Amino acid sequence: MRTILYTGKGGVGKTSVAAATALEAAEVGKNVLVMSTDPAHSLSDAFDTHIGPDPKEMATGVWAQEMDHTSMIEENWSEIQAYMSTVFEWQGANTLAAEELAMLPGMDELFGLLTVRRHHLESKYDALVVDAAPTGETLKLLSLPDQMNWYVEKILPIQRRAAKLVRPFANRAKSLPPLPQDSVFAAGQRFYEAIAGVEEILTDRENASVRLVVNAEKMVVAESRRAYTYLNLYDYGVDAVVVNRLLPDAITDPYFTRWRESQARHMKSIEESFSPIPILTARLFDREMYGLEALNALADDVFGDVEPLEMLFRGAAHDIVKDGDDGYEVTFNLPLADKKDVDLSKKGAELFVRVGGYRRNILLPDSLARLSATGASIEDGRLKVRLGDGS
Ligand SMILES: Nc1ncnc2c1ncn2[C@@H]1O[C@H](COP(=O)(O)OP(=O)(O)OP(=O)(O)O)[C@@H](O)[C@H]1O
Ligand SMILES: [Mg+2]
Repeated sequence: MRTILYTGKGGVGKTSVAAATALEAAEVGKNVLVMSTDPAHSLSDAFDTHIGPDPKEMATGVWAQEMDHTSMIEENWSEIQAYMSTVFEWQGANTLAAEELAMLPGMDELFGLLTVRRHHLESKYDALVVDAAPTGETLKLLSLPDQMNWYVEKILPIQRRAAKLVRPFANRAKSLPPLPQDSVFAAGQRFYEAIAGVEEILTDRENASVRLVVNAEKMVVAESRRAYTYLNLYDYGVDAVVVNRLLPDAITDPYFTRWRESQARHMKSIEESFSPIPILTARLFDREMYGLEALNALADDVFGDVEPLEMLFRGAAHDIVKDGDDGYEVTFNLPLADKKDVDLSKKGAELFVRVGGYRRNILLPDSLARLSATGASIEDGRLKVRLGDGS
């Protein structure tokens, strides 16, 4: 099943574009479910009709779903309890009320992941379009499998061994809290496997991709570049960037001249940051984009002749790997045939490169911001930049 996850800074148009994608795909006969993992649901607003926790048909072939805490907790009770047991060990996972559970950090992300997996297991649709929360939340969601992995591999076995050793004595001493039984650990393990299953679904480059929705504005572009870097690190593929709300050429009022200039500037920076990932665009419409007609118009603008469910790009614009003990290597996916002069500069977490007519700039992960660019070379048609402490 094809899975597309839309993310981007708050308010850029994620929900509208996700809904438009489903409508466009249904035009060619696909069955698509668009589902929101963002607790601030707005699919109902976009489709201009009430949507509940059960998938509801919006148009032929298009279903929509907004997860809600209470029904998610009921449906996933055993998995959630297992999760709670893993995270909080034996400390009263059973005694927490559903509402209290819903308040715990990470729950929305967790529900999102569990639902994605359930739809994959059920396989009722050709595609799943996920309207995810703004970038930061989504990165938290997508890093969950990695964090769980660390927890399960490093911590769980130790606790389990410790519990085995101590239990015969501890359970006799009434003043101590009961130690978890092996079954608790087994449940935690099962839950972890469910989460790992979601990671497998979302990092499957044949079928799953993330699309970044942006506006041609300074802060929006900065956030999406950072998000892209982290998505790469977690191994999630990005197959398109959607630039929404571009001023149409028809607007010639001088009031908008500076807006147009700054949009052009940011558009260039978007190309330098994400190329060769395809960039799709949509204009700023003369109205809010809710209801089927408006969403179809938005879909036409975004996709034109592009098939909305197609994997529009495979691979990465850049890649960061460890190089030796204290260095890193950043590889840029540039179609470079021969050796050219490479211009490198770095300012904080930003790395700028220029090779011939190509310019690229990326935001490095925070942990690499202190390193310097120590050299560059072109190998196998790719530009490789080395980062080290420069001494
Ligand atoms: N191209 C466009 N032209 C005009 N209005 C638009 C366009 N795209 C989106 N909108 C409108 O902008 C508003 C925000 O869009 P939307 O809800 O899709 O953004 P979002 O990124 O999902 O926001 P949030 O971060 O709050 O979830 C909505 O009222 C929507 O109708
Ligand atoms: Mg939204």
